[in-house]
Amino acid sequence: MSVSVRRLGETFVAEVMGVDLSKQLDDAALDALHDAYQREHVLAVRGQDLTPEQVIATSRLFGPVEPHLLEQYHHDDHKEILMVSNVVEGGEAKGLADAGSYWHSDVSYKAKPSRASMLYAVEVPEEGGDTLFCDMVAAYDALPEETKRRIADLKAVHNYAYRTNQQVANVGVRQKLSEEQLAAVPDAIHPVVRTHPETGVKAIFINPGFTVRFVDMPEDESEALKQELFDHCLQDRFIYRYKWRPGDALIWDNATVMHKATVLELPPGTRRTMHRTVISGDVPF
Ligand code: SIN
Repeated sequence: MSVSVRRLGETFVAEVMGVDLSKQLDDAALDALHDAYQREHVLAVRGQDLTPEQVIATSRLFGPVEPHLLEQYHHDDHKEILMVSNVVEGGEAKGLADAGSYWHSDVSYKAKPSRASMLYAVEVPEEGGDTLFCDMVAAYDALPEETKRRIADLKAVHNYAYRTNQQVANVGVRQKLSEEQLAAVPDAIHPVVRTHPETGVKAIFINPGFTVRFVDMPEDESEALKQELFDHCLQDRFIYRYKWRPGDALIWDNATVMHKATVLELPPGTRRTMHRTVISGDVPF
């Protein structure tokens, strides 16, 4: 395989060409993929035709794969795959319809957030259902020096139920967490400025989805600082809109980007189904 990489966004996101993820990759292709992942943070490999087993095998190129907390949305035969789908057939939902419909970094609510995530497009509409990505490294680099100093040693509390409870109330398409699921996701505390374990780059590591508050800070001050940082990060210059085609595989680095689904903006009846995996990570520092 002869691999080439083409930047899609201003500061991040690239398309990787010359790769067939249904086949075993040689060492050169694997090196090219990993180099591109570290440099570009989000990789798109288009035109793939992958079985669920091949989605899992591709994800494992980036680390161990862990099942998502919401086992009711696992693929029937593969617990490593979360069904992200708005399709309802015979009165039964094929998957989690509103997955990630808010800015977040996957699994930041656990002590060991996800290293990477993969989404594979099984069925997508011609228009809409895009996924948005935010470059948290570029956002960090562009902060005023005074803000960098202010947040340098801060820590933040992340919690899964924080967002899920709002989704249940606002959108009404999601089930409440069971007692057992709630017990599996206590608060997690992470540095606000995260150093990438492999490249050493710094990124802002808070997100509107799961970050509740800053540690040791009065609530009003904490809310104001969160808003200031999110307003800064969510400027157009740090955001890339990915437009899907069936067979696209996307892999991204959760230490350096936030993402958001736009599926709730689709007209009713528009079908969209993705296979999604979570690749395990380490304790952030
Ligand atoms: C997710 O965040 O898990 C899903 C993103 C998407 O479907 O666009």
